[in-house]
Amino acid sequence: MCGIIGFSGSTDAKNIILDGLKRLEYRGYDSAGIALQNGNVINMVKTSGKVDNLVAMADADTKLAGNCGIGHTRWATHGVPSDVNAHPHMSADGKFAIVHNGIIENHAEIKNKLIQKGVKFLSETDTEVIVQLLDYYYDGDIKKTLVKTTSMLEGSYALGVLCVDNPGTIYAAKVSSPLIIGIGAGENYFASDITAFISHTKNVIDLEDGEFAEISADKITIFDHNFKEIKKEERKITWDVAAAEKSGYEHFMLKEIMEQPAALKATIEPRIKDNKVNFDELNIDIKKYDRILMTACGSAYYAGCVGRDVIEKLCRIHVHTEVASELRYRDPMIDEKTLVIVISQSGETADTIAAIKEAKNKGADVMAIVNVVGSAIAKLADFTIYTWAGPEIAVATTKGYTTQVIVLYMFAVWAAYKLGRIDEKQLLELTKDIKRLPERAQRTLDLNTKVKKLADKYHEKQSIFFIGRYLDYAVCLEGSLKLKEISYIHSEAYAAGELKHGTIALIEEGRLVVAVCCYEPLLDKIISNVQQVKARGAQVLALAVEGNKKIFTEADDVLLVPKANELFMAAVEIIPLQLFAYYVAKNNKCDIDKPKNLAKSVTVE
Ligand code: F6R
Repeated sequence: MCGIIGFSGSTDAKNIILDGLKRLEYRGYDSAGIALQNGNVINMVKTSGKVDNLVAMADADTKLAGNCGIGHTRWATHGVPSDVNAHPHMSADGKFAIVHNGIIENHAEIKNKLIQKGVKFLSETDTEVIVQLLDYYYDGDIKKTLVKTTSMLEGSYALGVLCVDNPGTIYAAKVSSPLIIGIGAGENYFASDITAFISHTKNVIDLEDGEFAEISADKITIFDHNFKEIKKEERKITWDVAAAEKSGYEHFMLKEIMEQPAALKATIEPRIKDNKVNFDELNIDIKKYDRILMTACGSAYYAGCVGRDVIEKLCRIHVHTEVASELRYRDPMIDEKTLVIVISQSGETADTIAAIKEAKNKGADVMAIVNVVGSAIAKLADFTIYTWAGPEIAVATTKGYTTQVIVLYMFAVWAAYKLGRIDEKQLLELTKDIKRLPERAQRTLDLNTKVKKLADKYHEKQSIFFIGRYLDYAVCLEGSLKLKEISYIHSEAYAAGELKHGTIALIEEGRLVVAVCCYEPLLDKIISNVQQVKARGAQVLALAVEGNKKIFTEADDVLLVPKANELFMAAVEIIPLQLFAYYVAKNNKCDIDKPKNLAKSVTVE
């Protein structure tokens, strides 16, 4: 939520920062701003709306120049999206400009104190207290003032600061919000994530909680609250700039859907040794646990629902799932015999982080399945498995979800073997089935044109139901979420057997029901549910496995996906549902990569 960038170099900072903001826009897009330092003056332009609005204003502003500056793209938390609430925020005397990602929880208390001392506030944001504090405490020593100011803050922040008395220098500080530093040649950066400056440098330093950075064109100094310099390791980003660009696709979402076979392969291959799934490097003593608790948010939670069913089936260990935003309120039954598995693409989700803390407080071990290397969740967990999906830019996750599902399959197979629930022969067979999935995903993408036609047919529906049983039901949850978040069409996912207990009242003439019928042991059951909704006038779009002839006599439209091991179908059958959501949204002229009210990483509770 919110993206920040800072740059110091010897070229004009304006375009570099604006370009970085465009790349960060998926983190929030209700307002944006930029401040550049030119000698002893800081000039600022900010506006509500998307980064393109800002670009137009910044281009027209001739005063906005300089080799050093900061930028921000916002997802509003405190204060409506408006010009005045947009960042940067500047002190009244023009001495400081700041950008902030995070939430200052004690902002009201600080604001009241400063108001009593005569300080005037302009915006409704929590962020403004930071710039007012800087100005209030400033005694000519910016580092000292920055440390003092941040010591007053409770909550989370990734902070970028300009101070007129230190031309050519940007300052950064962080607690519980992501911030990464980019090391260029004669120029340096900070940003919320690497996508902001990947076209300039792949060499980075991770700033840790409680650390500060002083960054000029040719020097980066990291220090702690005692001003003690900290030596930091450099890290090289392995993926290429093209991974964070559309590369000819109209939307990132379509590109990321198409990248799934490669992402699955990249996630599977490093975990296979001698044709067997192998997670030995994790050093988890799986026999130690008598239950697993899976927790995450949104799509990551739905990946967990698939994982729950597969782990329970193969490992015969009790697996419970819980949305991370609720976990801590339930005083959950977690102890040192519970393995808590958290799942997160971004590795930043505040609710998931809170769930980890709750689990750890109760003595549990935490295993994280995460896409972003070095992210907060990856660091907090006792064991981390990365999904090698590469950067995911579209707000609606696709390859993030399927790679999470794949890791859960692999973990289930490996754990089942370690627990003695399957023998070596079964381990080899199940590994082979997993290795086939990228090819199955690739063939599923051949449905693209057919799905597009179905989206043309159905895009005007006001409400769409998804029904399925067992593993197919878990996939319905994700298919339905995909549709509603990017097309804004009302949708519900139901365990097909539950329809008759109430929801069938909503089935009427012309209602579209997407029936996921891929778990073949339950085919007859789901077909009878299809007949029930057809009898009430519904139109049925069925998703079934190649070779299924029966379904054609029951459904209005059928999409057939390649056959895989019935336990592992989710990674394949979700793909047409992602494409369906995409093309429905496209027909309805929705902003697919940046759906309204959403942002990619949800760093607020
Ligand atoms: C939906 C979507 C969200 C995320 C959720 C968790 O397409 O992307 O539901 O899955 O916000 O995010 P992460 O995985 O980053 O923790």
